[in-house]
Amino acid sequence: MDLKQHIRGIPDFPKPGILFYDISTLLRHADAWQVAMGRLANVVRAYHPTVLAGVESRGFLLAAPLALKLGCGFVMLRKPGKLPGATVGLDYALEYGTDRIEIQADAIEPGARVVVVDDLLATGGTMAAGIQLLQKVGGDVVAAASLIELTFLGGRDKLDVPFEALVQYD
Ligand code: PRP
Ligand code: MG
Repeated sequence: MDLKQHIRGIPDFPKPGILFYDISTLLRHADAWQVAMGRLANVVRAYHPTVLAGVESRGFLLAAPLALKLGCGFVMLRKPGKLPGATVGLDYALEYGTDRIEIQADAIEPGARVVVVDDLLATGGTMAAGIQLLQKVGGDVVAAASLIELTFLGGRDKLDVPFEALVQYD
């Protein structure tokens, strides 16, 4: 199955000049979602993770079911102010301005092998921050994975762990 046939490109969203790759058409198609999750499971399984970390919000849609499928735990990397209890955060640069992600301070057990999962890698800023944050709380980040990679933005060069994607746009 060609997963690209189930991913919709929406021009000028969220800003003029940006082509938004929309996975909602894939998720609402039972077979396409099943195939995508099966392929993602195959590539991620090879790193023998014990925990998957999902990036809010679209990353959750893939990381949580994938963790269940692989028999891993699941932890959330969230936008600021959403997690209860003690948290650790990381600020990271965007093209204009900065953003921040947070994790619960006790989310990662010693010895955990973590794979970070998001729907899409664009500039790589979000994924790089996620990896760095997990490392900051003691995670052994063994890989990162996404459904879609925008190769022309070179995001994977920002990552210091192996990166896997199912579908590339260049
Ligand atoms: C999108 C996408 C990735 C990130 C990729 O999330 O889901 O998380 O941007 O961009 P980058 O590689 O340039 O950092 P978005 O911030 O739109 O939020 P959402 O997942 O909550 O929709
Ligand atoms: Mg996102």
